[in-house]
Amino acid sequence: MSKVTVVGAGKYGSTTTQRIAEWDIVDEVVMTDIVEGLPQGLALDMNQSRPVLGYRTLVTGTNDYADTAESDVVVITAGLPRKPGMSRMDLLGVNAGIVTSVVEEIVRYSPNAVIIVVTNPLDQMTTLAADVSGFPRNRVLGQAGMLDSARFAHFISEAADHDVLDITAVTLGSHGETMVPVPSLCKVGDQPLLDALGEDTVAELVDRTRKGGGEIVAYLKTGSAYYAPSAAAASMVKAIVEDSGSQMPVCAWMEGEYGIDGVYLGVLARLGRNGVEEIVTVPLTTDEVDGLREAAVAVKEKVADLEDLDI
Ligand code: LAC
Repeated sequence: MSKVTVVGAGKYGSTTTQRIAEWDIVDEVVMTDIVEGLPQGLALDMNQSRPVLGYRTLVTGTNDYADTAESDVVVITAGLPRKPGMSRMDLLGVNAGIVTSVVEEIVRYSPNAVIIVVTNPLDQMTTLAADVSGFPRNRVLGQAGMLDSARFAHFISEAADHDVLDITAVTLGSHGETMVPVPSLCKVGDQPLLDALGEDTVAELVDRTRKGGGEIVAYLKTGSAYYAPSAAAASMVKAIVEDSGSQMPVCAWMEGEYGIDGVYLGVLARLGRNGVEEIVTVPLTTDEVDGLREAAVAVKEKVADLEDLDI
């Protein structure tokens, strides 16, 4: 008996809604947007696919936050996506205003929800959502690591010519330049990644993963990726509503793990009803821990930019 709200009926929001609905894991998904008619039309279309695919979850499309009341999980996708040549940071000002007003409405109608932020720049928007909500920080988290790890797994699978479902790939750190793909935790089947592909190839794949979102933006020209991003966001929702304790890389609040404190950063965590149930620290190489610490410093600096904005 769960209710999930997805804020934003763009490509990311609507595909996230569709995935959650098709999995039939909640009673209702509310999709809200400021554009009149858009969420209603998409919801009607999705609901009519239920008899074909055989699921019952109802999607409600709305422009009114009152319809989102008492949601268990809220996914915030609202905001502008990148255009070719833009960095995620170029979106800071406009998306900060949008995320602030969205979170105020969420807090008003769903004071007990877990909030998942996907709006870019991800690490800053997650921090902002936590600050504006005043929620305990375990109930506010960001989606990035699942997506970045999935991209890394896809690239490894192609380079190694190996079943994509038999690849283990992990990325930590921030969603962007200071992303920390973690080769020491990656495997091709049972074989360590570095043994399977060698250092040079792994370095190329790491670089391509870091720029993975930009590669797709450059192709699309209008808008950014949404199939893999929505798969990642929906899988986080699933872990939370099912209270599964599944371990996945997410953007979570750090309290001393790896010697890092007081910042949102991509790490492995177990997800359940309370959002982040536990941050899981894993053995990393010295370089990888250094990478995480650099990412933490970079995110802290960029969060400081938020304070200069007049929101
Ligand atoms: C990406 C965006 C969603 O990485 O951040 O594709």
